[in-house]
Amino acid sequence: MRNGPAWKVRGNHRSLALAMLLGALGLAGCAGNHGAAAQPSLYQQLGGQAGITRFVQAWTTEVGNDARINAAFAHTDMPHLRAQLVNLLGQDSGGPQVYTGPDMYVVHRGMHITNAQWNAFMEDGHKAMQQEHYSDVTQAELLGILLPMKMDIVGH
Ligand code: HEM
Repeated sequence: MRNGPAWKVRGNHRSLALAMLLGALGLAGCAGNHGAAAQPSLYQQLGGQAGITRFVQAWTTEVGNDARINAAFAHTDMPHLRAQLVNLLGQDSGGPQVYTGPDMYVVHRGMHITNAQWNAFMEDGHKAMQQEHYSDVTQAELLGILLPMKMDIVGH
């Protein structure tokens, strides 16, 4: 057979048509993503300034009630800490806030924060995320911001 089996020729044509269709859909998809219908940013998913403020309030309340770690915050200016956390999370989630405080290594250096303290702090954060009814995707994205900070915060 000169052109190979008939099924193969037809199959190739079908593949070409499919590729063209997918290409067209891809282009249409790209055009759509440039509009206002883009995925909400993490900042939007967190509820913007108001949502992040609520989340930080809930988180620091949990920390304050957590006998495993609250002694570490006995002399801390909590309103200042909350304001700094709101700016940090707002900035890192794509919001307009600007965090002007010291970096995480400098803030926590000398505290000798342990893994157990870190885990307690993050558990409290998880409780606050649940209270805010953040979706699994939002929680995962928020953790994507927080978890990399561990190397600067723990063990120094
Ligand atoms: C992702 C986790 C954490 C983040 C994002 C974070 C962030 C911050 C920020 C933004 C400040 C305020 C900085 C300033 O303006 O001076 C701060 C202060 C503080 N952090 Fe953390 N922190 C984290 C984990 C922890 C953990 C696990 C502990 C200990 C259990 C801890 C203990 C403290 C204390 C005691 C202060 C107050 C220091 C002071 O009173 O001057 N932090 N943190």
